[in-house]
Amino acid sequence: MENAIAGVVRHLGASLKNRGLYPATHPLVRMPVEKCRMELAPFFADRSELALTVSDGTLVLEGVPIFQLTSSLELFIARLGAIGLPAVIFERGVSVEDIELFVRFLHETREQGLPILEIKARLARWGITHIRVTATAEEEKDDYTLAREIYGNALDVVVRALKDVRNGKTPDGAESDRAVREMSGMVSRNRDAMLALTLIKNFDEYTYNHSVNVSILSLAVAETLGMPEPERIGIGVAGLLHDVGKTQLALDLIRKPGTLTVEEFEEIKKHPEEGFAILGKMTHIQESTRSVVREHHMRFDRTGYPRPEPEHRMNPHSHLIAVADCFDALTTMRSYQKARTPRQALEIMRKLAGKSLDPDLVELLERSLGGFPVGTMVRLSTMEVGIVTGTPDGGKGEPKVAILFDRSGNPLAAPRGVDLAESDPSSGRPRRMILGTVNPLMHPPVSISGVLQTLSA
Ligand SMILES: [Fe+2]
Ligand SMILES: [Fe+2]
Repeated sequence: MENAIAGVVRHLGASLKNRGLYPATHPLVRMPVEKCRMELAPFFADRSELALTVSDGTLVLEGVPIFQLTSSLELFIARLGAIGLPAVIFERGVSVEDIELFVRFLHETREQGLPILEIKARLARWGITHIRVTATAEEEKDDYTLAREIYGNALDVVVRALKDVRNGKTPDGAESDRAVREMSGMVSRNRDAMLALTLIKNFDEYTYNHSVNVSILSLAVAETLGMPEPERIGIGVAGLLHDVGKTQLALDLIRKPGTLTVEEFEEIKKHPEEGFAILGKMTHIQESTRSVVREHHMRFDRTGYPRPEPEHRMNPHSHLIAVADCFDALTTMRSYQKARTPRQALEIMRKLAGKSLDPDLVELLERSLGGFPVGTMVRLSTMEVGIVTGTPDGGKGEPKVAILFDRSGNPLAAPRGVDLAESDPSSGRPRRMILGTVNPLMHPPVSISGVLQTLSA
């Protein structure tokens, strides 16, 4: 058995090493992959998966440490370590193509220390189906706990970045990049869990939550658009840092309720340029991210600030940040404005489409959030009141809903997920339909991520 185990990893290592020396189609690349698949086959006779882990620099396959290291195995361990992969699991049914793609992934991925969710999302995009990766501790957490941690981490990054700027220091761009990669991975893995958190609004520290929310919303739209990864990350970072220039303004001015004087507004108008300058000093910032920060208030009809020169070509991603920015601002309660429900916000934005906002992107945001965005309170035909917990599967059909209050308005002991597609056998008609939205202020505040977590338990 030990020989066979050593064989599996030796072939993997050989294929990886040869990938660096020969073209991908060369027999020395392909043959070890086929041999690896052959060596794996007998293991699956009595088990459904096989775990390969790296612990303290030692490669361990199904609990058996591999001590006879060859140069190709050392390379293999080094690649796993550099990418940030503590464990790889081969599942029964793993094909030569899966292994080949996985070796290619190890060979081509140049980033160091990728978040595990990001790696998972990439493997899924590459179509690798029977090789799973885990960061052993994270695997046990459910998506909602993970999403909350990721959100909290991004919030810390923003708080630190803004504080750094106030203290005359340059924020660490690598931190923002990493936080956005985590959020992007989670948006791909469980969009509803991540989007639900954008409903967290903090009235006092508006800018922090707002920055994270804009980042998540723009990542969701970028994913709906099927944008390539570097572009998505660039957009997410722009969302996270779009208002970083506000740190140069007096705090009283940022927090001032009500209308601003002409002079005060002139001050506010400086924040995109200030942000552009700050990002210019940071590492790990794409050039286009910088332009987007500078342009996020220019508006689709170019009536915003800083006023674009006639020949200036705006970065299309600036319009995307503007749409996410507008949505988050509208759904947040401010001293001078009540919070709109997501649907009310989208309605207002539809009126701005083609004027200050890019109409295609307003439509895309709506598509990304669904007709009834996560967190919307709805009244059902049974007179029960529920909350939307998810976009419809495959984007079509009915949203997912959990009932919170019975027909008399009494809260249920625990939220109960219902299937709106379920029909009443006597009439053949749907058992429950959405009648309309409910003003959330009519009910005690509901934590959507708490509801999601209860349902997943
Ligand atoms: Fe702004
Ligand atoms: Fe903003």
